[in-house]
Amino acid sequence: MTSSPSNPRLPIHAATGTDLTARSWQTEAPLRMLMNNLDPEVAEDPDHLVVYGGTGRAARSWEAYDAIVDTLRDLADDETLLVQSGKPVAVMRTHTWAPRVLIANSNLVGDWASWEEFRRLEDLGLTMYGQMTAGSWIYIGTQGILQGTYETFAAVADKRFGGTLAGTITVTRRALSIGVLGNAAEMLPRLLEMDAPVDVVTDQTSAHDPLAYLPVGVPFEEWEERRTADPAAFTKEAQASMAAHVRAMVELQDRGAEVFDYGNSIRDEARKGGYDRAFEFPGFVPAYIRPQFCGGRGPFRWAALSGDPADIAATDRAILELFPEDEKLRRWITMAGERVHFQGLPSRICWLGYGERARAGAKFNEMVASGELAAPVVIGRDHLDCGSVASPYRETESMLDGSDAIADWALLNALVNTASGATWVSIHHGGGVGIGRSIHAGQVVVADGTELAAEKIERVLTNDPGMGVVRHVDAGYDRQHGDVRRLRRRPLRRRQLVPPLPGHRRLARRRRGAGGPDAGEDRLRRADRPRQRGLSRTMVIGPSLTDETCMSAPKTPRCTGAPRRSSSVHTASYNGSETGPGAAAAQVGRRPLRASP
Ligand SMILES: NC(=O)c1ccc[n+]([C@@H]2O[C@H](COP(=O)([O-])OP(=O)(O)OC[C@H]3O[C@@H](n4cnc5c(N)ncnc54)[C@H](O)[C@@H]3O)[C@@H](O)[C@H]2O)c1
Repeated sequence: MTSSPSNPRLPIHAATGTDLTARSWQTEAPLRMLMNNLDPEVAEDPDHLVVYGGTGRAARSWEAYDAIVDTLRDLADDETLLVQSGKPVAVMRTHTWAPRVLIANSNLVGDWASWEEFRRLEDLGLTMYGQMTAGSWIYIGTQGILQGTYETFAAVADKRFGGTLAGTITVTRRALSIGVLGNAAEMLPRLLEMDAPVDVVTDQTSAHDPLAYLPVGVPFEEWEERRTADPAAFTKEAQASMAAHVRAMVELQDRGAEVFDYGNSIRDEARKGGYDRAFEFPGFVPAYIRPQFCGGRGPFRWAALSGDPADIAATDRAILELFPEDEKLRRWITMAGERVHFQGLPSRICWLGYGERARAGAKFNEMVASGELAAPVVIGRDHLDCGSVASPYRETESMLDGSDAIADWALLNALVNTASGATWVSIHHGGGVGIGRSIHAGQVVVADGTELAAEKIERVLTNDPGMGVVRHVDAGYDRQHGDVRRLRRRPLRRRQLVPPLPGHRRLARRRRGAGGPDAGEDRLRRADRPRQRGLSRTMVIGPSLTDETCMSAPKTPRCTGAPRRSSSVHTASYNGSETGPGAAAAQVGRRPLRASP
């Protein structure tokens, strides 16, 4: 593809192969993944930095993008880049266990968290919509939603159709898919008129943002012009159409179809459009997915930084060898290997549970170390996840204890991933379902084949899904049986101990063999005596970071107790404009402030 005359940066492709364009794989990885998000095969509208999901962006502006790229190329392994809604704002001196990038996207204080206020601030250049994996640089193209849909529809089949969708109008054993070009708010009522025998109904328009939903009567060609000219009027039209759309969905349910909201908040927009039965069908998480979340099962995606599809083929084989008993996983990995066309860097996604994610990550790191893979891989996930999302119309809809809107869990997830050694961590607002309706966190960890990476991977990929287990057990779910059995109401009476993984014991034994006092094994023994340790109301997930981090990263100041000069930010390098109103907008695209010791 030739470059765009208006934007010489385009087309953007991530570097491939083993030659570094940054100072280490820890910074090369976020750099390649940022660029991969904007690859024309991956991004929906790279000219406007839009990756997917309405207006989900990878960076706030082209100037901000340039500054992020420049900074990552030069970032050291004891520095951390801070990105505020797509704009790089500072480089702080940290340490090797700290994330190389920390990202906060689209966050607004509660009373201000509306699309109107968000757009006002966006117009001032103060924020951007990061969606979920757009602004956190781990989007992998359509494979992500394809795999999530595979999981969801497999669960629909289990729940409603005896384990198979064969013979339903949704999917048949003959791989036949029918596409119809039209407005969904017209097509669904038409299906009702035709009395079509529909078995399963859901929706995947960008309903979370009324400006990204095409109202009935607006020609596709006039969409951009009409929504820009009068966003408020356009919003009303879109909500009225969503009311008609959802009414048809409810009526299809009345006629016996399996109907669910697929995570785009269309029910709430239809309610605002005046339809009062909008919430008569459930969201897909409480309907099908929650039992998996209770066991810490959720998304696990990885991308080959080599750019070599053979690396993904090798990791696919490794996954099948690691989990031979998981039939659903085997079917997905096999079919994905045969049928999924890679977009940008070769990648794969599947769903794995607590314990499984850490095992897979450790295996990938070993494969990098042994040279079985041509280059490091990044391991992350999307935010349709068990322990990192507060989203009352989606991941946390209808929680057993009513804690749907409690967002502390998502923030704790980001904090624990930061504390565990993730390579980049992000906190977002509004992804999936729109501004005001969700708070969620992301993490990506790099498997570069080093011992240090192995330790980080073990902690991150244990603690990240561990948050899913904790969050659901705390809400009253049973870890093994999802929402079938109720463990408790409050107060918590019995110990909720999530057993440490076999890998933790191995790690502890290895350290003991090395001769040092075994804090890890001690900790495990202590965890077995939770009452003495005051843990009777606490779940124990994997290793205690404090002890083990001190053992394995003696250079971190906290472990050695060595005095450390505190970091500060050189505000002096800015001119006076940085403190006035609109200063942030003026600074978009500058190289971020660098912390000095
Ligand atoms: N369930 C999940 O796991 C999951 C995952 C990703 C995204 N989402 C949500 O799903 C939605 C879609 O995401 P996406 O990335 O595919 O967005 P997208 O913007 O790429 O695609 C949405 C499509 O809907 C079309 N559309 C808009 N109005 C329409 C109408 N009235 N009739 C027919 N088509 C219409 C648009 O033209 C566009 O092609 C978003 O709300 C997103 O937040 C859910």
